[in-house]
Amino acid sequence: MDVQSLTAATQDYSKLVTDAMVVIVPPETSAWRLPAAVRKLIDDAVDQGDLALKAGRTLYAHRPSGLKVPRLVIAVAADGGGKAWRKALGAAFGHLKGSGAERAALVWAGAGEPDAAMAEAAVCVAQDAVYVYRHTKPSAAEAPKWTRLDLVCGEAAQADVDAGLTRGRAIAAGSTLAREVANRPGNHCTPSMLADHARELAKERGLKVEVLDRKDIEKLGMGAFLAVAQGSEEPPRFIVLRYQGAGKKDAPTVLVGKGITFDTGGISIKPSAEMDEMKFDMGGAASVLGTFRAIAELKPKINVVGLIPTCENMPDGRAIKPGDVVTSMSGKTIEILNTDAEGRLILCDALTYAERFKPAAVIDIATLTGAIIIGLGFQHAGLFSPDDTLADALLQAGRTSHDTAWRMPLDEEYDEGLKSHFADIPNIGARAGGAITAAKFLQRFTGKYRWAHLDVAGVAFRSGAAKGGTGRPVPLLTHYLLGQAG
Ligand code: BES
Ligand code: MN
Ligand code: ZN
Repeated sequence: MDVQSLTAATQDYSKLVTDAMVVIVPPETSAWRLPAAVRKLIDDAVDQGDLALKAGRTLYAHRPSGLKVPRLVIAVAADGGGKAWRKALGAAFGHLKGSGAERAALVWAGAGEPDAAMAEAAVCVAQDAVYVYRHTKPSAAEAPKWTRLDLVCGEAAQADVDAGLTRGRAIAAGSTLAREVANRPGNHCTPSMLADHARELAKERGLKVEVLDRKDIEKLGMGAFLAVAQGSEEPPRFIVLRYQGAGKKDAPTVLVGKGITFDTGGISIKPSAEMDEMKFDMGGAASVLGTFRAIAELKPKINVVGLIPTCENMPDGRAIKPGDVVTSMSGKTIEILNTDAEGRLILCDALTYAERFKPAAVIDIATLTGAIIIGLGFQHAGLFSPDDTLADALLQAGRTSHDTAWRMPLDEEYDEGLKSHFADIPNIGARAGGAITAAKFLQRFTGKYRWAHLDVAGVAFRSGAAKGGTGRPVPLLTHYLLGQAG
């Protein structure tokens, strides 16, 4: 989707020449800035009971009289807020993608000019609306004809709008990459193929990439990661991506993404229902790739390292068994009481590996627990961090990008269940507060730097009719990194 700003020569949008005009109106009619023809049409639709001035409602008019455009879509935004703007855009774009329009103009009819945040949202929502997964489904619906959106604004607002569009384009491209990679089936996105995606991204975008294979991983002593990988015929990979936007000596931010390309649960096997969704268990890794895609385009003055431990979690004659004890890279021994708690096993070694970068902060992103879905549903990612400054910056980045997180506790009392008779630490704690005890496990490996953990099991993908990767939390992470660059 190509999105540009368009400064109208006059405020009279009735003269706009394009394939479709999308008008977003707030519910209070007094604030409207609209051509008379559009206002008349809305008034009439309201009178006739065809349009309620309620959030997300839309009205489509074909060849509306008094306008040059052949298509008009009206959508109602609840207020001037970003959430309402996105919701209205989503509803309006739903009409466009099935239409014959190739090019559309977007008009905000409320008070004030569109700003950078609204422009960024317009790109992201438009890109989201036209995304179609087709890699293994050639018969998927034809790509929408709609490929161009012009955001109408006054001359004074254009610089701000353009800055928002630039950010939006990068974030939308990053989210789309994350979705596309996450959507690939487990047999199309194996650890080696995930590494190929990283290599391709690095080549296209001028990033550094290193892919460690089983031998390298053995040399590093990543016994916990290798323990998960040993039950699969697919060889593991450890991907190291580097973006350098600041001086060589500047401490980098390290992003660690869980890259389980399929999670059967292993010997502690999962029930069959919905097990296909465990191909999304590399959603954290996909979001790291997507975030690198975004920052490689925006070029903030920071350094970022991406670490992706990736393997399958399979039941096999060689697979780990409940009760097995392995030695992690940190030297701590781990008793594997449940082979389905594998994410933390691959992450703990990546968290130890992260120490070598003397990082400014380490953020891991993982579809780690079903328990976070019980706690927070599908709205917010779970955010865990003992560092208030880091936590606040991430929460704020989530609010700004409408890719939100909710902070969860890490009190030491939650640690009590993490005791093993046969090792330094078991890989599961109490079932109560399972997302927190999982985070407490990870925390044991993070003493040497500022750390935050995002449990994205509820937000990285959707089930049901809209099944698929969401690209979250690429917007949150990108905004956080932009914020770090000042
Ligand atoms: N990948 C799952 C978590 C998950 C569940 C992600 C649902 C997305 C949707 C993770 O590896 C897992 O199996 N966690 C277990 C942990 C338990 C064994 C302590 C869980 O949540 O049940
Ligand atoms: Mn699991
Ligand atoms: Zn998993």
